[in-house]
Amino acid sequence: MSKSDLYPVDPAIAARAHMDSAAYDAARVAAREEPDRYWSEVAKRLDWSRFPTKIKDVSFDKADFHIRWFEDGELNVAYNCVDRHLAERANETAIIWEGDDPADDARITFAELHEQVCRMANVLKSNGVKKGDRVTLYLPMIPAAAYAMLACARIGAVHSVVFGGFSPDSLAGRIEDCGSRIVITADEGRRGGKKVPLKANVDEALKKVAVDTVIVVSHTGGAIDWVEGRDVRYEEAAAAASPECPCEPMNAEDPLFILYTSGSTGKPKGVLHTTGGYLLWASWTQAMVFDYRPGEVFWCTADVGWVTGHTYVVYGALANAATTLMFEGVPNYPDVSRFWQVVDKHKVDIFYTAPTALRALMREGDEPVKSASRKSLRLLGTVGEPINPEAWRWYHEVVGDGRLPIVDTWWQTETGGALIAPLPGATDLKPGSATKPLPGVELEIVDAEGRPLEGAVEGGLCITDSWPGQMRTVYGDHQRFFDTYFSTYPGKYFTGDGCRRDEDGYYWITGRLDDVLNVSGHRMGTAEIESALVSHDDVAEAAVVGFPHDIKGQGVYAYVTLNADVQPSEDLRRALVAHVRKEIGPIASPDVIQWAPGLPKTRSGKIMRRILRKIAENDVTSLGDTSTLADPSVVDDLVRNRAQSQ
Ligand code: WT7
Repeated sequence: MSKSDLYPVDPAIAARAHMDSAAYDAARVAAREEPDRYWSEVAKRLDWSRFPTKIKDVSFDKADFHIRWFEDGELNVAYNCVDRHLAERANETAIIWEGDDPADDARITFAELHEQVCRMANVLKSNGVKKGDRVTLYLPMIPAAAYAMLACARIGAVHSVVFGGFSPDSLAGRIEDCGSRIVITADEGRRGGKKVPLKANVDEALKKVAVDTVIVVSHTGGAIDWVEGRDVRYEEAAAAASPECPCEPMNAEDPLFILYTSGSTGKPKGVLHTTGGYLLWASWTQAMVFDYRPGEVFWCTADVGWVTGHTYVVYGALANAATTLMFEGVPNYPDVSRFWQVVDKHKVDIFYTAPTALRALMREGDEPVKSASRKSLRLLGTVGEPINPEAWRWYHEVVGDGRLPIVDTWWQTETGGALIAPLPGATDLKPGSATKPLPGVELEIVDAEGRPLEGAVEGGLCITDSWPGQMRTVYGDHQRFFDTYFSTYPGKYFTGDGCRRDEDGYYWITGRLDDVLNVSGHRMGTAEIESALVSHDDVAEAAVVGFPHDIKGQGVYAYVTLNADVQPSEDLRRALVAHVRKEIGPIASPDVIQWAPGLPKTRSGKIMRRILRKIAENDVTSLGDTSTLADPSVVDDLVRNRAQSQ
């Protein structure tokens, strides 16, 4: 690597940063050697109704498996994100909302946020929601989504936000899994000038699973069906509700939310995060990684349907009294300059987005960026997938005018917040590397047998000790939690990611080692897409793998074996894509469907995905060992067919 590939810390940034490199080194040691003292000190950044005396109580061992942080502490998340800021910042902006249509925007002060959260909380209570009950949210990126999340937190209900791009079937599955009796939705959402029929999707989902109540927020005013006795007009209920609602004191280990995420097998898992540890991690990492200070405008472009939106649009940002920008739209509507126009319009200080969006914008050239001033920006961030160095440099040179640091943040739904990321005042940057672990994050790179590897190496990325923001269980299936993350390499949390550590101790994520895809920064299980395909009447069998995609990072490549009496056709190909969209949602749409008369299997019937991946990548000269195949001719057929279909 050439010297020019190192971007040193700007001394001016280091001088004013929350953590410079000496502070980072000291914090690494303190968090490792005296975790109780260190995290007890950090915990003071939150307001507790009862400050914890027990800090960390963790074992990753099978015989005594448990993860508890701040276990005798008591606090309320909504109090920390809203009420405690009222004394000094009641009239400052908590949320800037930028609608899909550039003419639509709004500013919500902390006082207004308080009132809205209280009203929503009272509407939930008057509809029978109690502490511990699960509430499903299926909302567009509008302030009501934040009100609803914080309202649940205020009364101790557990929210499960389902991304508005998921299908009615996916929504039904998530409602059923967590047993929620109430859904909060909107009439419609807007994205890129199109309407998203949220309420109609809820109606469809509720043909499969029953709930008592659907609270409907009016957003577009579009026509919707109405079920008397079940559906509640939010605006009417909120107007009748009190603008005051007490905060429920919660134990630090009480659940805060469930968020479903895809794994390599089975249905999506309900990742459960708790109150104290999660909020501390969200708040502390938002402050440290983005070097945030109050008064700055913080824009994380993620939807609240994903963990990034939970942690950095809502909880981490608001816990730090940030002005958080919530964007309903997409990067290319009305045109490809939208992000930078919004930056100028709202004087955004910190901008945090996904590599896939940057790669798509990069293709449009520099002019749409240069046409905006971007003078307000002082820090850039990325998340969700590895950023290729080319995109990193474009982000730095063109968007950042060569003057802005980029924080590449590696984390997962399971981790609650960033774990590997540069600190702007402490860490020299290398394009494409998420750099180094935060204090309290103990990484290990292991070989296939789980042996830790030292020095500059590549292997599986494990975490050997707990951090406060770690997930606590898979909702309703604690055994699955243990089996998924702690059984591959006993005594360690296995991330599922491959990783290289270089000679300077920098970490480079190489991608998933399991059957999980990362499509445009969205996580998809190959098994889920396969079962959607197989549920089509004409399909006998399907195998899905990822392949490199210029914009999406990974694309979805599906091998489909049709029933004996069915002929392949373009119409059928389109029908299968539509079927997957209906079953899961547009984000799971196959990019390529290859008809496969047979799939490569071992003699015991296991599909050899390694070979399918190679064919999808068009890397057919190095298929590796095929001697265990039951029928090697299947592979020749697939290679030949691929060549013909390209
Ligand atoms: C997977 C987690 C983190 C919130 C959004 C995604 C990949 C995430 C990076 C990064 C390389 C990354 C990993 C991880 N990933 N951030 N900065 N560099 N890879 O959360 O849906 O739970 O997906 O996304 O493969 O395991 P998620």
